[in-house]
Amino acid sequence: MSADVPRVAVGECHVWFADAVHVPALLALLDDRERARHDAFVRAGDRALYLTAHALARQLVAAQLGVGPFAVRLTQECRHCDRPEPHGKPGVADADLELSWSHSGGRVAVALSLAGPVGVDIEEVAAEGRAADLAATVLSAVERAELERLPAAERAAGFIRYWARKEAVLKATGDGLMVEPALLTVSAPDAPAALLEWRERAEPHLPVRLRDLDAGDGHRAAVAVLGAECPVVLHEAVYGGDGTLRHPRRGVVTSARC
Ligand SMILES: CC(C)(COP(=O)(O)OP(=O)(O)OC[C@H]1O[C@@H](n2cnc3c(N)ncnc32)[C@H](O)[C@@H]1OP(=O)(O)O)[C@@H](O)C(=O)NCCC(=O)NCCS
Repeated sequence: MSADVPRVAVGECHVWFADAVHVPALLALLDDRERARHDAFVRAGDRALYLTAHALARQLVAAQLGVGPFAVRLTQECRHCDRPEPHGKPGVADADLELSWSHSGGRVAVALSLAGPVGVDIEEVAAEGRAADLAATVLSAVERAELERLPAAERAAGFIRYWARKEAVLKATGDGLMVEPALLTVSAPDAPAALLEWRERAEPHLPVRLRDLDAGDGHRAAVAVLGAECPVVLHEAVYGGDGTLRHPRRGVVTSARC
């Protein structure tokens, strides 16, 4: 991969987006367990999503640490059980770097943070045909009322905006869907992203910095960082056919609410 991957500075969060690819050279970056999960996907599109997310995460972490991608050791930690097989929030062994990734509808997002625990979520709008059904179970009463207020044509995208924000928060804390998303209330889809309420929230209570991200047409994305306010730097990663990575910088989001 190219050597000039932008570095994450202390107090910053960076998010890389990429279109999912299935480049054979990237398969070599997966460990045995990842390879088995990759091989188990039936659909080629799902294999590409999984491969791109895991390879990109490893390449980006390697660049931050100044080591080769094979030297990177990724971990997983579950805060809800002690089942022996690795599962739960991803992390980087022996480094302060915080990590999260997400994949949906041909797009991947990888977040690296030196500002605090991070969760990123990307969702395809078109993939969500069941918005109304799901809204009844994963949105709080306040969120359902705000969604109803939107013009009918905007509700599917509005629901996905809610979903991406809530998953980003739950991934930053490491809870994932072990916590009912309806316990959280985030701001209305057409308002700046913010976590407004979290009923029955477990400690520790770090401030949640939540932001919407421009993930490209047809997708919604959000990132949550726990701790001090921080800038979020966005990149679009583009793969060459040999697995090399290009990464033009796209923009910087600096506003934050908690
Ligand atoms: C994590 C979760 C919110 C992801 O939702 P999703 O929209 O389906 O998937 P995304 O592509 O956005 O994110 C998947 C990534 O989230 C990460 N992840 C998994 N569990 C996580 C957690 N508890 N906290 C933070 N991140 C987590 C992994 O890196 C995963 O990547 P992988 O599947 O390629 O290995 C959801 O799948 C979940 O909560 N899973 C846990 C299910 C569970 O309860 N298991 C029992 C635990 S005891």
